[in-house]
Amino acid sequence: MKKLWGGRFTGSAEEWVDEFGASIGFDQDLADQDIDGSIAHATMLAKCGVITENEADVIIQGLKELKQKASKGELEYSAKLEDIHLNIEHHLTELIGPTGGKLHTARSRNDQVATDMHLYLKEQVSEIIELITEFQKSLVIQAEQNIETLMPGYTHLQRAQPISFAHHLMAYFWMLERDKQRYIDSMKRINLSPLGAGALAGTTFPIDRHMTAEILGFEGIYENSLDAVSDRDFILEFLSGSSMLMMHLSRLCEETILWSSQEFQFIELSDAFTTGSSIMPQKKNPDMAELIRGKTGRVYGSLMGLLTVLKGLPLAYNKDMQEDKEGMFDTVKTVKGSLKIFAGMIGTMKVKEEKMEKSVKNDFSNATELADYLAAKGVPFREAHEIVGKLVLECIQKGCYLADLPLEAYKSMNPLFEENIYQALNPYNAVERRNSAGGTGFSQVKIQIEKAKTSL
Ligand code: ARG
Repeated sequence: MKKLWGGRFTGSAEEWVDEFGASIGFDQDLADQDIDGSIAHATMLAKCGVITENEADVIIQGLKELKQKASKGELEYSAKLEDIHLNIEHHLTELIGPTGGKLHTARSRNDQVATDMHLYLKEQVSEIIELITEFQKSLVIQAEQNIETLMPGYTHLQRAQPISFAHHLMAYFWMLERDKQRYIDSMKRINLSPLGAGALAGTTFPIDRHMTAEILGFEGIYENSLDAVSDRDFILEFLSGSSMLMMHLSRLCEETILWSSQEFQFIELSDAFTTGSSIMPQKKNPDMAELIRGKTGRVYGSLMGLLTVLKGLPLAYNKDMQEDKEGMFDTVKTVKGSLKIFAGMIGTMKVKEEKMEKSVKNDFSNATELADYLAAKGVPFREAHEIVGKLVLECIQKGCYLADLPLEAYKSMNPLFEENIYQALNPYNAVERRNSAGGTGFSQVKIQIEKAKTSL
């Protein structure tokens, strides 16, 4: 098979060398984008008088035919032809003859590949944004059903203060909202067209870069042809935003795994998102949550990989940059899959309210209430803290909880304690009263959910 750049060569590489250098094994996923970019380019070349309308028609007809074939998996790709760009061009020329060779006028694979990747990410990022919204919806639905479900809130994974389970779920809603905003913001930079930058320096042909940008739905063009073909920041941004998203998902994975354990028993995951053990008949493993936690690693890896590839590269295109693709494809697949799984897993989990509530009754997470109680009666908070600390110690020694101590025990510590301390100690009241803005108080959680719904 003749190389499309073979003119200045006398010898040829061995097959295994070609295979090592080829990207067709993975960049065939860009076939659609490559063809769309070529159709826009040919259209523009004709409008600008670089090729005739007739030639453009023949080229575009051919490209459309190839697109059909590609979508049915009927295009044969060869590593001899290196990448998707040369494979498509080869097929085009086979199909329509030498006119196919005119398509590459005023273009290079360098601006071509960059255009393909911009088109690809544009589409994928908007799908990811929608998947985030779907997941947020399932969080909101669970939250709405659990506003008055009490659970222990933790710091250092030690019981801290009782909170509403909805409040906990909504914390993830807002994290995801930030992730979504990051993707939305990155669209500004994804939405620029490198096409027409040529190999690095632009072209002598009277092309119209704004026209191709518009046909392809880009909002603008790169202002500098060198930057246009050298830039992979938009992929790095995607990988870094995705790393942060995966980090958030991974934290929820960890909590889901803990909550569904025998030790916690706060939730039960649906059978659809768990697996059994091949040896232990009783097991129900939170595999999907574990796997998403694990897959976070490969997304971080892709970010680190590409940062390292680009570090120290001189302008403009270098073959190193071919390494930008697999991590990007893999991240798209990982992020989309993880979001879909999570929307289903959170939407179908069973919340064990009684278990959660029982656990907040059997702990010291109401100790802050007592300290606040004294502080509200004018005792300096530090002193109140000390007194309650002593009461907790007394309970530990006696093997009981704060609500079990008689009023006399309280009075002997401080006469300001009255019968109503028992109401203050009730975890339901403790949560209900935390009504500072953004707090876990039920009315605050309701406000938060309303805001979330309007943002959706
Ligand atoms: N397969 C190449 C890549 O993915 C396309 C660009 C090749 N350009 C070049 N001058 N060799 O990066």
